[in-house]
Amino acid sequence: MPADLNPIDKAKFVAAKRAVDYVEDGMKLGLGTGSTAAWMVRCLAERVRNEGLRVRGVPTSRRTAELAASLGIAVHTLDEVKWLDLTIDGADEFDRDLNLIKGGGAALLQEKIVATASDRMIVIADAAKEVARLGAFPLPVEVIPFGWQTTKALVEETLVSMDVLGRDTALRMNGERPLMTDEANYILDLHLERIGNPRQLALVLNQIPGVVENGLFIDICDIVVIGEADGRVSVRDINAGTTDEDRVEFAPTDNIFADLD
Ligand code: A5P
Repeated sequence: MPADLNPIDKAKFVAAKRAVDYVEDGMKLGLGTGSTAAWMVRCLAERVRNEGLRVRGVPTSRRTAELAASLGIAVHTLDEVKWLDLTIDGADEFDRDLNLIKGGGAALLQEKIVATASDRMIVIADAAKEVARLGAFPLPVEVIPFGWQTTKALVEETLVSMDVLGRDTALRMNGERPLMTDEANYILDLHLERIGNPRQLALVLNQIPGVVENGLFIDICDIVVIGEADGRVSVRDINAGTTDEDRVEFAPTDNIFADLD
């Protein structure tokens, strides 16, 4: 493994590399978004190059689409392939039931659609993403720009009756302007600190007019691959109820770092 990668990137890399072992020839794959998912795209591209693996990738954001295409992965829309064998994506937090908070990279809407349209979802993460209770990471909620301040007020009113510790909400900014998602929506970040009932909150938030989707992924993830900087990986399968320990060796011939600055 290159010595100049920081420990977090090493952990993300080994999780990504191990998860790509699940990919088989001919699969239709959901390609996640974020820094961990970017490692997965690089590892997948390496298998496509080295093994002639034929896969159809459905990216969950414009930036993942650009990265995948630039590395030689065949990129398709979800409407072209309709149903996927597997999605591999990162997460901002996961709990022991493999429920997730996602959307730190503002791609939660496409990520949730793609993951839900997959037979299996594998989350790849460094160990710091595991939490006893979801909510320390601000929960992203995608809202349409029309009337967003009213939607924000309705979200805040709804939070009063929810089992959460914090109730501050903030419009995510990109410099001086609201951040725009790939679907031309805004993101509200909910600073909840601790979410007592993620399932209930996910359902209630989506009832509010103006809310497009929230970043709680409940009962969607099947497997989490947790990476450590020293190459150890832990593979937790919620359906099988198993946890396997493994180790990823870095081959000096790997050229997945070629596209990095
Ligand atoms: C993108 O919208 C997110 O859901 C990412 O999957 C999540 O933020 C994890 O990103 P990192 O892998 O960069 O931590």
